[in-house]
Amino acid sequence: MRPVIWLGSVVGALAVLIMPQAVGMASSRFLANGLLPPMPIPSTNPQTDAKVELGKMLYFDKRLSRDNTISCASCHRPDASWADTTPVSEGVEHKKGGRNSPSILNAGYFVPQFWDGRALHLEKQAVGPVANPVEMDLPLDELIVRLKGIPGYVAAFKAAFGTEPTEEGVAKAIAAFERTIISSNSPYDKYLQGDKSAMTPAAVRGMELFNGKAHCTSCHSGPIFSDQRFHNLGIGYKDGKYADVGRYEVTKNPRDMGAFRTPSLRHVAMTPPYLHDGSEPTLEAVVELYDRGGIPNPHLDPLMLPLHLTSREKSDLVEFMKALTGDPVIVVEPELPR
Ligand code: HEC
Ligand code: HEC
Repeated sequence: MRPVIWLGSVVGALAVLIMPQAVGMASSRFLANGLLPPMPIPSTNPQTDAKVELGKMLYFDKRLSRDNTISCASCHRPDASWADTTPVSEGVEHKKGGRNSPSILNAGYFVPQFWDGRALHLEKQAVGPVANPVEMDLPLDELIVRLKGIPGYVAAFKAAFGTEPTEEGVAKAIAAFERTIISSNSPYDKYLQGDKSAMTPAAVRGMELFNGKAHCTSCHSGPIFSDQRFHNLGIGYKDGKYADVGRYEVTKNPRDMGAFRTPSLRHVAMTPPYLHDGSEPTLEAVVELYDRGGIPNPHLDPLMLPLHLTSREKSDLVEFMKALTGDPVIVVEPELPR
């Protein structure tokens, strides 16, 4: 085992021993790339049918944007594996942020949320896009006024929370709905459960490379294939500049310059284009990038080293990633309250 990985595991294991609350999702990196555990539900926001139904309506409702043109589903599209097909999604008036929309499949397993980890939980994340000027651009106090003017929503909040529409209720309801969007039962999961025919021989070879020579598990570890930590691969670094400083924006720690959260690889074959800026169109292109050892820059993660893979090894790795596609999650668009 590479010493740097070993050291990371020891430090992490100690952290888990010292902080019992870290056991749970944060410790997932020490588990193998196993089956998904049950979705963790915070005690402060238990799942109820009324809440999930309300969250679903809010998720699909364009009235959550300033000019009634954009809903959460515009960028996290159920028909596109809950992601978007463009490198960078458009918000109201075709405005663009600089980042690729991740799929919200299995998003409830992530702590923290976003490419830069700026929100810890879904509850903290959920109202962010509503107010974000390049996404839905609707100030939250205006949102609440709007919802209070729609009798169907007033009744739905009453049923879910026993209150009028509130910002906290919006966040909790959307988070509860998102926690139902879980994809498992991939060929890889079936293989783990003993069905050795579920994965092709190429995918099995790819799995061995993923865990071995290509050491992808140094970062894509745990049941969602993410250590939930931040790494610099050099994406977007050009002419001595970072197009996006990533995690550094949140921590101001120079160590985090150009670092982004390791994304999940479950369902990844369904959600091109790839990386935080959507700069790579295919899984093949991403594997080429790793084979070169990432993009050289002053903060490149020490785990990024040229891999010297053969062309068959490269295609085997892609086959393995294709075996991580689980059952599609189909949700019927709800009728919106009047
Ligand atoms: C205009 C497009 C757009 C809209 C509208 C939008 N999102 Fe996003 N969403 C994004 C982008 C881009 C990111 C990544 C941003 C980042 O990490 O900085 C993101 C990130 C997320 C994440 C984090 C996923 C992860 O892996 O960390 C969740 C969850 C999410 N959005 C849910 C929502 C919800 C709920 C709504 C509606 C209230 C919504 N989004 C509306 C584009 C959008
Ligand atoms: C040093 C940690 C690290 C290692 C090692 C690593 N990854 Fe990644 N991976 C990341 C991070 C971080 C990103 C997002 C980077 C960004 O967008 O700036 C990423 C992104 C990806 C993506 C794009 C996913 C998406 O939804 O956009 C794929 C596919 C991927 N990695 C596959 C692999 C494979 C295959 C290997 C082994 C050859 C590997 N990774 C090794 C950390 C790592």
